[in-house]
Amino acid sequence: MKILLLGSNGQLGYEATRTLFCYGDLVAVDYPDIDFTKPKQVTDLISEVKPDLIYNAVAFTDVDKAEQESEKAMLVNSHTPGEIAKFCKVNNVPLIHFSTDYVFDGQKNALYVEDDIPNPINMYGKSKLDGELAIINSGCDYFIFRTSWVYSMRAGGFVKKVIQWSQQNEVLRIVDDQIGNPTWARMLAIISTSFIEKNKGNIRKIFHDNNGVFHLAGGGYASRFEWTKTIIKYLSEDLIIKVKDIIPVKSNEFPTPADRPLFSALSCQKFEKKFDMKIPHWENSLQLMMKH
Ligand SMILES: NC(=O)c1ccc[n+]([C@@H]2O[C@H](COP(=O)([O-])OP(=O)(O)OC[C@H]3O[C@@H](n4cnc5c(N)ncnc54)[C@H](OP(=O)(O)O)[C@@H]3O)[C@@H](O)[C@H]2O)c1
Repeated sequence: MKILLLGSNGQLGYEATRTLFCYGDLVAVDYPDIDFTKPKQVTDLISEVKPDLIYNAVAFTDVDKAEQESEKAMLVNSHTPGEIAKFCKVNNVPLIHFSTDYVFDGQKNALYVEDDIPNPINMYGKSKLDGELAIINSGCDYFIFRTSWVYSMRAGGFVKKVIQWSQQNEVLRIVDDQIGNPTWARMLAIISTSFIEKNKGNIRKIFHDNNGVFHLAGGGYASRFEWTKTIIKYLSEDLIIKVKDIIPVKSNEFPTPADRPLFSALSCQKFEKKFDMKIPHWENSLQLMMKH
């Protein structure tokens, strides 16, 4: 089986490269070899590779920048995934794609399930929802995995920022009114590819029979404040840190160009039931990652 992974240098794509290469002939590419602002360049590359499966980890993920660069966010998160999906429909190639908890407005105050009505409150969420719809409307066979608060030690994400802040400051002020599922990129890569091995012989059928949107993120949920305290709890004792106090504050203390949904935690029960898997609790994943 030939697998094409788009976005191999991102948090998820880097980890997915390390799981997908076990399942077939892997072609893993990233910017500038593929540029999602140039949809034809991307579909030309796909035609050349002739994959049996596409795993798309490319996204415009800078939530605040997306407000200013909305055209680019729409191209990368919606238009080009839509063109890829059209290719997949015509050529009968299954597609794995990722979306976000930010398709919701955060007003539900309970775990979001797949049937809840999306209502994004920022440009990033709008562009990702548009991407979901473009894929669904193409008629191709797809899994869209909505995830949340993805972290790894690679990029400048939240965990790395907290470590840096704790080395530089005695007091950290962290919002406690934003709730989500911290999701370790490696866990997401392993779980989002695990069903491939089980169904290698009939990969097209498994997609065709189970097509859909699934929530797939760290188990349980936390506020950014709880997440921060837990990151610091698991820091290596060798690391010299300054931080003595972590103070919970409200989001309005840190105005940002993009609004964030307050409670956007996802329920992943649909995925767990369908694929007979148990998603690890976010704290267990974090503890494992912090050991390295
Ligand atoms: N990060 C989160 O907290 C979060 C939360 C919810 C959902 N998600 C979703 O989960 C998936 C994986 O996210 P992630 O955290 O792994 O993202 P990431 O680390 O930002 O990686 C995104 C990848 O896309 C590439 N990319 C961006 N613009 C591109 C373009 N114009 N052409 C080609 N490649 C381009 C990036 O390349 P460069 O590095 O070269 O720009 C990078 O390799 C995405 O679908 C995202 O929307 C993420």
